[in-house]
Amino acid sequence: MPRKPIYIDRKSPVPIYYQLKEALKQQIESGALKPHERVPSERELEERYRISRMTARRALQELEAEGYIYRAQGKGSFVAEPKIRQGLLWLTSFTEDMRERGMRAGARVLRVEVVRDERVARRLGVGPEEEFVLLQRLRTADGEPMALETSYLRHSLCPGLEGLDFADRSLYRTLQEEYGLRLGRAEQTVEAAVANTFEAELLGVKPGTPMLSMERITYLDDNRTPIEYVRSLYRGDRYKLYVELKRR
Ligand code: GLP
Repeated sequence: MPRKPIYIDRKSPVPIYYQLKEALKQQIESGALKPHERVPSERELEERYRISRMTARRALQELEAEGYIYRAQGKGSFVAEPKIRQGLLWLTSFTEDMRERGMRAGARVLRVEVVRDERVARRLGVGPEEEFVLLQRLRTADGEPMALETSYLRHSLCPGLEGLDFADRSLYRTLQEEYGLRLGRAEQTVEAAVANTFEAELLGVKPGTPMLSMERITYLDDNRTPIEYVRSLYRGDRYKLYVELKRR
């Protein structure tokens, strides 16, 4: 696709950095600039569009924060892979989501232990004495860190789960195949968040990177027995949510 020349309107009330950023975004979205292709440097943008270095830098910084480009030390900026589109309609597992895209799901187990947690118990509507298997995993797609997931599973329903190795195993599949637990439905919310220092380091992003913070309560197929409470933090620079809407 031919690249349309970028036109900066200096009389516009829209800031110049923003015009430049939107124009570059448009080139990326239209495919005029392809994944891993180099984008012009601050200096090139400065000269080409007769703008200040600060203006060029700001446009590139925002494109990076929004996940459109990535920087390679000493080499410049490049177009990022398009974001992964996450549907919101089906109760699927991370492993299934990745397989559907032809990617390989993986995990690094950060924590696994049996705990009590009153807040989680309250969220699931079970007694405060209930024990949970806390499973915290860094989820990867083809080796790239994508999400941080902290699951609480009712220990009484899946005893021994804490002894399994989840580095290369799907939780949902294990619940079904080894415990005979079929999942029925889930309630899920999504909120905006930013990565703190700890999360950023694990996910390989800068602190402050936008995130999608999801909370899910999963029920068995009787649709009323809660089994899982999970908080997932997905990289906002790699994910977007998708849902089809029908006219009422
Ligand atoms: C998704 C959900 C989690 C769920 C996980 C199970 O990522 N957000 O709530 O625990 O899938 O994934 P898997 O079966 O691959 O371990």
